[in-house]
Amino acid sequence: MKDFELMLAPMENHTGPEFREVCYRKGADSTFTEMARISALSRNNKSTVEKIQIVRSVPTYIQLIGSNEKELEKFLDNFTPQKGFVGFNLNLGCPSPDMIQSGLGCALIKRISKVTKLVKVIQDHQYPVSIKLRLGMNAFEKKKKVYLTLIKEVNADFFIVHARHGKETYHDPADFTVYQECVNTGKVIIANGDIKTKDQIDYLKSIGVRGAMIGRVAIKNPDVFNELK
Ligand SMILES: Cc1cc2nc3c(=O)[nH]c(=O)nc-3n(C[C@H](O)[C@H](O)[C@H](O)COP(=O)(O)O)c2cc1C
Repeated sequence: MKDFELMLAPMENHTGPEFREVCYRKGADSTFTEMARISALSRNNKSTVEKIQIVRSVPTYIQLIGSNEKELEKFLDNFTPQKGFVGFNLNLGCPSPDMIQSGLGCALIKRISKVTKLVKVIQDHQYPVSIKLRLGMNAFEKKKKVYLTLIKEVNADFFIVHARHGKETYHDPADFTVYQECVNTGKVIIANGDIKTKDQIDYLKSIGVRGAMIGRVAIKNPDVFNELK
């Protein structure tokens, strides 16, 4: 990883291989696949397997969503990395009611032992693993700082903190005040949510954040990566 890494966020229906390549050519240091369900990958579901394909060696993290270690094992036993693969990322941020009802996405933030097991399965297969999380499932969990407990307790390579809780929409501003305490854990922290200016990047660098993940702004303007450099 660079001293400060600019990442293209995973965005369903927007960040397929072609768009990831465009952003990489325009200065994104790394990119993420759209979330792929572990259960579907373990069954070798064709459209899900397509989601995790990497083209022309673009540096890409494969994002997984799920909670079943057996299925994860089965998928990884048969996984062969393509050129450009730089690691797995676990989705602990999806706020959709279906995912939460199944105990997935941001419902996993407080399930430290489950997340620890998933991380260990990936590490036992010798692959890098990071986590993308929100601040909790709702305002109550944010207040209890479940995100901080997860960052402290789980041994992942880096943590992408989308600075909203699961009940907040994109109309609610991302909360930039949480990053300092996340950095103070000593873990590698990447900031995400509403990042679009050089001043924001300078602030994040000044407090020890190690990267910024850019989502919606990049859809409208993929040049944003070079502009922020
Ligand atoms: C259309 C859309 C699809 C998204 N799909 C995913 C996804 O598959 N996995 C994920 O972790 N986050 C997903 N996100 C969240 C983004 O990765 C990112 O966390 C969010 O947009 C905040 O960053 P931004 O303010 O720079 O857009 C999605 C967001 C949008 C708008």
